[in-house]
Amino acid sequence: MNPFERMAIPIIQAPMFGASTQAMALAVSRAGGMGQFAAAGSTADQIETAVAEMKRDTDAPFAVNFLMTEPVRPDGAEVDAALQRLKPWYDARGLDLPSAPNTFAQDFDAQLAAVIRAAPSVASFAFSILTAEQVAALHAADIYVIGTATTVAEARAWAQVGADAVCAQGMEAGGHRGHFLKDVEQSLIGTMALVSTVRAAVEVPVVAAGGIMDGRGVAAALALGAAAAQMGSAFLLANDSAVSPTWRRAIEEAPDDATALTRAFSGRYARGIENEFMRAMQGEEVPPYPIQNRLTQPLRAAAARADDPSVMSLWAGQAIKLARPGEAGDLVQRWWDEAKAVAKELAARTA
Ligand SMILES: Cc1cc2nc3c(=O)[nH]c(=O)nc-3n(C[C@H](O)[C@H](O)[C@H](O)COP(=O)(O)O)c2cc1C
Repeated sequence: MNPFERMAIPIIQAPMFGASTQAMALAVSRAGGMGQFAAAGSTADQIETAVAEMKRDTDAPFAVNFLMTEPVRPDGAEVDAALQRLKPWYDARGLDLPSAPNTFAQDFDAQLAAVIRAAPSVASFAFSILTAEQVAALHAADIYVIGTATTVAEARAWAQVGADAVCAQGMEAGGHRGHFLKDVEQSLIGTMALVSTVRAAVEVPVVAAGGIMDGRGVAAALALGAAAAQMGSAFLLANDSAVSPTWRRAIEEAPDDATALTRAFSGRYARGIENEFMRAMQGEEVPPYPIQNRLTQPLRAAAARADDPSVMSLWAGQAIKLARPGEAGDLVQRWWDEAKAVAKELAARTA
């Protein structure tokens, strides 16, 4: 069923693995928007449990989100070389270099099977594209499918496999983005241009994501013809956010031009607050996602425990300066009130 018709407020909380939480998703859905549970790191069992709990706790629509990742089996020499490049960073913090991991990411096929069994009202996907058969299997379980696109070609591809809606994710967006047809350099379109062109290219509803931080941004997304505004960075300081105190402080103290794109942490381009690790690793050889992601995990986790922002992945979008604290449901209501006030202001100016 189309979730947009059931939402009292056209605001979607962006899935943010490592930052958003089940409690945040629940609060947003209960407030009339739509929360998303970021399931990238979840096992099949964890997905089924989370969906069952969310269904028990609300009748409102919520989504489960996946970062589609192909299984990788890198050869030992590649992993050793990547670990050796990271050794100075581990050494400097008195940490043992981790041994080569056996697995690098969750098994996406098992995750997909689990979400079909659990049947949330909505599932969203990024990093790659489902087959028409996989979309049909989700539809058979009554799951509304949202695919993430960073170009018009990607939006068309999602529409072609039967996705119900497309999330148009501009280059302003924090964290990893969903490009899958071309390199990141050819997938850096701003939210305004992307939403407008995607909307003209596909029949399905379009969700706008990237740089939307308040009611003005929500109103702008709706004015561009989006069915809903998806906000990520705007929730990073919210009560139920899982960001560590160090990450939170980096956001609060961020300069105006704080963010940059980097492959250093994960092997895939993502946007975060620039720090020493990002600067030092620029131009260095890095294995592709999810290999580098897995190899830097212990380093980042230890840095978070030691209050050391210099080697943490401080994911955040370009407009992070506008992030505000508060209860997630209250923020949704406040942004919607602001958006309505902006719409009135515009109606008066254009009357
Ligand atoms: C900390 C963080 C983690 C993210 N993790 C995910 C994720 O797990 N899945 C996903 O599809 N997008 C992820 N994203 C991208 C968001 O879903 C969303 O598109 C983005 O935050 C929108 O831009 P904004 O940050 O300017 O609002 C993440 C973004 C951030 C900031």
